[in-house]
Amino acid sequence: MSNYTQIFKGTAFSSKSSSEVQILKDYLFFINAEGMIEKTVAPDHVDYQNLLTTYQGKENFHSLGEGEYFLPGFVDLHVHAPQWAQAGTALDIPLYDWLNTYTFPIESKFSDLAFAQEVYEDLVSTLLANGTTTSLYFATVHKEASLLLAKICAEKGQRGLVGKVVMDDPEQNPDYYRDLDTQTALKDTEEFILAVKDLAKTTKQGVYPVVTPRFIPSCTDDALKGLGELAAKYDTHIQSHCSESDWEHSYVKERFKKNDAFALHDFGLLGDKSVMAHCNFLSNDDAQLFAETGTAIGHCPISNAYFANSVIPIARFHSMGVDIGLGSDLSGGYSPSLFDNARQAVMSSRMLEDGVDTSLPTEKRGVSNSRITINEAFYLATAGGGESLSLPIGRLQENYTWDVQIIDTKVSSAKLPIFRNNEDLQDIFQKIMYLVRPENIREVWVQGNKVHTRA
Ligand code: GUN
Ligand code: FE
Repeated sequence: MSNYTQIFKGTAFSSKSSSEVQILKDYLFFINAEGMIEKTVAPDHVDYQNLLTTYQGKENFHSLGEGEYFLPGFVDLHVHAPQWAQAGTALDIPLYDWLNTYTFPIESKFSDLAFAQEVYEDLVSTLLANGTTTSLYFATVHKEASLLLAKICAEKGQRGLVGKVVMDDPEQNPDYYRDLDTQTALKDTEEFILAVKDLAKTTKQGVYPVVTPRFIPSCTDDALKGLGELAAKYDTHIQSHCSESDWEHSYVKERFKKNDAFALHDFGLLGDKSVMAHCNFLSNDDAQLFAETGTAIGHCPISNAYFANSVIPIARFHSMGVDIGLGSDLSGGYSPSLFDNARQAVMSSRMLEDGVDTSLPTEKRGVSNSRITINEAFYLATAGGGESLSLPIGRLQENYTWDVQIIDTKVSSAKLPIFRNNEDLQDIFQKIMYLVRPENIREVWVQGNKVHTRA
C-alpha cells in the first residue's frame, strides 16, 4: 500500500536558522526506502487525520510516548578515534608535550589490529549511544587499522567519514610513529580512498574517505601538495588542524611566512568539503578565505579550553559567512558527548563577552556580541555540521536523512525536571540541551535504520 518503510509520529526540534529552533509539534514523518524524510505532515494539514487512521497500529508506525521528543542526530566534526583509549588523561600539559609523550605512543599501538578493533568498536558504540550519528574521524597513520574503523562504522550503521592520518616528515615526527616516506604516505592514502569508496557501496548511510594531513607541522611540502591533488582527483572530504595553538600557529608562520589558512589553500586543501579543526587564531583575512572557498570550522570548545587557552570568536566568523559545526576533539576534549560540547560552546562564548561592570567604566574586558545561545549551539551540533560536510543531514525536514535521537525525559535514572503539564516546548528544548545524559537517549536511528537501543 505504501512505499514508506517507516512512519514516525511525535514532537521534534530542528534548526530553522542558526539562531531559531523550529518546534514540530505532533508531526508525522514519512521515511522512504533510502532512509530519507520523504514528507512531513503537520497536525493542521487536511490529510493528517486520514493518514493517521491509515497507518496507526501498523508495524512500521512508531509513535513517541509521553515525555519523548525527536532531536536530529548529532554531527561530530572532529574525533581522534584512537585517542578514545586515553580520554580524560593528561590534559594538564601543553599540546606539543601531550602529542609527544601521550598521544603518539598510544596512536602507534594501532598497528595492532586486535587492539584497534577493541577500541574502535567501543568508541563507535559510545558515540551512537550519545546521539552522534555522523562522525568525522582522524584514525592513525596505519592504512589497515584506518580501514577497520570505516568497516566498524559501516557495520554499526554510523555515518563515518574516516581519514588515514598523514605524518611523513622524519624531522618532525618520531621514528616509531610516522609514514615510512612521502611516497608511501600518498600511496597508502590513495589505496585507502579506493577501499573506503568500495566499502561505501555496501552501506545505506554511507562511509567516506577523508584526506587527512594531521597538521602542517607533521607534513612535508610534497605530501601536502600530493594530498591536495588526491582530494581533487577523488573529490573527497579534507580535514586537518588549523591555527590551533600559539605554538602551532607560530611554527607555520615561520615556515611559510603566512597563516595556516593561506598555506593550506596554496596546497589545494581548502574547499567546500574541507573541515578545519579549532581555527582559534584565524585572522579576518583567513576567515574571509574560508568563507570564499566554502571551508568549514570544526569548533572544539572543550579542547580549546585546555590546549589553546582560547575562545574562538564563533559569532564573528559566522557573521562573515563561514560554515561552522561542533567537534568533541576526543581526546583533546574529554567528552564523547556533543551535548557536553554544546554546553561548553555557550559557556566559553559567555566568557569572551564583554563585561557589564558599570562600576569600572574605564575597564573594558571581553568582546561585544561574542555570546552564542543554546539554540546556536544546537545548530552547530546538527544543521551546522551537515552544512560543513555538504551532506543533507542535521535537520528534520523533507529531503534530509532520518538521523534522529529519541529523547526520553522521564526515564527514572535521569528524569528531567519537568513538572507542569503543557510546559512551554521551547523551555523543554532548553532543559533537554542542558540536562540530557546518555540514559535519556532511548533510541538512535541513522538513515532510517535503528542503530542503538538503550540497555
Ligand atoms: N594537532 C595535531 N595533532 C593533534 C591532536 O591529536 N589533537 C589536537 N588537539 N591537536 C592536534
Ligand atoms: Fe584534534
